[in-house]
Amino acid sequence: MTQNLNVLADIESRVATLTINRPDKRNALNAATRAQFIEAMGQLETNDEVRVVVVTGAGETAFVAGADITEFADRSPMDQFAVMRRRTVYEAVDQFPKPVIAAINGYCLGTGCELAMACDIRIASDNAKFGQPEVNLGIMPGGGGTQRLPRLVGLGQALKMLYTGEIISAERALEIGLADEVVPAGELRQRVSELAATIAEKSPVALRLIKEAARASARMPLDEGLRLETSLFGLAFSSDDKREGMTAFTEKRKPDFKGR
Ligand code: COA
Repeated sequence: MTQNLNVLADIESRVATLTINRPDKRNALNAATRAQFIEAMGQLETNDEVRVVVVTGAGETAFVAGADITEFADRSPMDQFAVMRRRTVYEAVDQFPKPVIAAINGYCLGTGCELAMACDIRIASDNAKFGQPEVNLGIMPGGGGTQRLPRLVGLGQALKMLYTGEIISAERALEIGLADEVVPAGELRQRVSELAATIAEKSPVALRLIKEAARASARMPLDEGLRLETSLFGLAFSSDDKREGMTAFTEKRKPDFKGR
């Protein structure tokens, strides 16, 4: 696996951890970091050894404290338009065909909050802080903040955060549904690796189909979503993993899923 300076990749026991590595800049995402992140996700997608990805930030204080503001300062509208037409880190996560867990170890602001929201599950340390402070800079979220936040927390809570740019605690994020679980800071790594290990043991085929169906629920009416689920359910029945799962159950042993 390529070790890029701004994004560190580590693979252990079927779980890949991508660490955004600019701790001196509170892991703010600049263009190089975004490109390295997208490249790393591309490599993990085709690596059959990897079944779950964890995204986190280096150091003790930040997950990702936003886009690198220094890159925005002199950017013209057309420069920004060109940047926005490139593949984004959010797409790389959202469209990734395996489960992605955000391990939120501190400031989770702006782009960082948007990156976390693109992940499937958000586990936060109790010292994490969430917010969409773009409004304070005279801009608005551009990485899904106005779309994913209302879907996660409801329109009123989302607009309260988006209009005020307020920074909320991990506990509050848990209350409104932005974080899925909060653990003491010292236990974050352990808790996330337990969760990732549990998921990594499951059938990769089933995980992939579950993700496809559950993600579709955000963009489809119920009847269409239910039809998609029925089709994918049928597809699951054609897999070796299904045969292995059923056989292991009748033989009273743990299944050994191969992802086929
Ligand atoms: N873009 C660029 N640099 C950033 C950054 C960002 N989003 N967030 C932090 N940094 C840099 C700081 O400029 C500083 O760099 P320097 O040491 O060269 O001066 C370094 O990271 C440390 O930041 P600092 O503010 O000293 O740390 P802190 O722990 O006191 O505060 C934050 C942390 C996250 C509260 C504060 O840095 C902040 O408000 N950052 C901007 C958050 C934001 O608006 N994000 C949305 C962007 S769209």
